[in-house]
Amino acid sequence: MRSEKYNILYVDDEKSNLNVFNATFRRDYNVFTANSAAEGIELLASSKIDIIITDQRMPKMTGAEFLKWSKVHYPETIRIILTGFSDTEAIITAINECDIYRYIAKPWDGDEMKLTLKKASEVQQLRQDNQKLIADLKEAKESLEQKVIARTTEVMEQKEEIEKKSKALEEQNYLLQEIDSEKNNIISMIVHDLQSPINRIKGLIELFTMENRTPFSENQILYLDLIRRNISDASRHIRNLLDTKVLEGNIDYQVPLKKTSLSKILPMMLDSYREQYMKKKVNLHYHHENNSEEIYVNGNEDYINRIFDNLISNALKFSPKDNNSNVFVKIKKNGTNINVIVQDEGQGLTGDDKKNLFKKFQKLSAVPTNGESSSGLGLSIVKTLTEKLGGNVWAEDNQAKGATFVVEFPQYTDA
Ligand SMILES: Nc1ncnc2c1ncn2[C@@H]1O[C@H](COP(=O)(O)OP(=O)(O)OP(=O)(O)O)[C@@H](O)[C@H]1O
Ligand SMILES: [Mg+2]
Repeated sequence: MRSEKYNILYVDDEKSNLNVFNATFRRDYNVFTANSAAEGIELLASSKIDIIITDQRMPKMTGAEFLKWSKVHYPETIRIILTGFSDTEAIITAINECDIYRYIAKPWDGDEMKLTLKKASEVQQLRQDNQKLIADLKEAKESLEQKVIARTTEVMEQKEEIEKKSKALEEQNYLLQEIDSEKNNIISMIVHDLQSPINRIKGLIELFTMENRTPFSENQILYLDLIRRNISDASRHIRNLLDTKVLEGNIDYQVPLKKTSLSKILPMMLDSYREQYMKKKVNLHYHHENNSEEIYVNGNEDYINRIFDNLISNALKFSPKDNNSNVFVKIKKNGTNINVIVQDEGQGLTGDDKKNLFKKFQKLSAVPTNGESSSGLGLSIVKTLTEKLGGNVWAEDNQAKGATFVVEFPQYTDA
């Protein structure tokens, strides 16, 4: 309910009626009185009137005519007409054309008038509240629409910006791919061209040793040994780099698979490492559950050699020097699979290491213990080659000491 009083305009050509009305209601309402419709029109223009009460019988302009005019110009007012019971025609006109709220029979009764005005004020209040609500709602809707438009524009601008950046990125990516492929071609050429001179050096060292007539001095033997080791490191690097190129898919390479004896290849591979292990004082153990049984996989001798060449050289590379630690290589049957386990007592693998294991060019926390070379390629090749043979490779978890790698191959079957 609003706190200030409602404004009532009372129009009557009889002055005494105006006085009585004013005296009766001025305490509860702001009463405006007019002696004629013309005066009433003036007052409507100068004051914001809520309720109009008019006598029907007036000279010049009747009450019904005045209300009809008010309805057009001040539709939000509440209109009441005062008329005699017999004046039905005026009542019908007022109802039909002036949209009146009530008609009151003359002479009006104070209590009835009081009640009617109270109800009319409530209706007016409701109407005003309603209008305010509608206006608020309209404003909220408009502000929301504006926000939606602003946000949509912003999103569109962002979208455009993203599209621009993505296009620029695509172009950069394309450029990078071109540079990368050019770089790969150069590496391939260099690596390929290094292969022959290194192999020739290997051969020449053997010739030099064979044709030498006088015994070598202790130092010469040591130097020759170092040369051999470095040449063999270099040749493994070259093979790994070439493997990477092949395995990257630049060259389509399908390996022929055939019945291959793991139990023959592995001991031979270990034998080729024994001298290096002895020199670093690392003990190399081979264990095969059932020595008399040959273990076959559907594989490829060259691949298998390269897989274990990497794992066994790693085990030695990351084991402590001159410490009598152990490396175990075990063959185990596991259902229809064959597992080869390579276990060392070296620096082991951290949780972070395991996340990056088998990725290309990853040198992890363990570092070579005797100046060996490390390019971080071996394990990625191990993984690709193993998978090409239909197998799987992983590092065991919860290792108390050192690292354990397991390579699993499907067992060879005649079918
Ligand atoms: N047996 C192991 N014990 C501890 N860490 C290992 C072992 N094997 C590999 N790692 C860690 O994983 C990394 C990657 O091994 P990977 O064989 O791929 O490369 P590399 O031995 O460093 O170099 P490359 O084999 O190319 O000569 C190594 O640098 C080492 O940090
Ligand atoms: Mg390695």
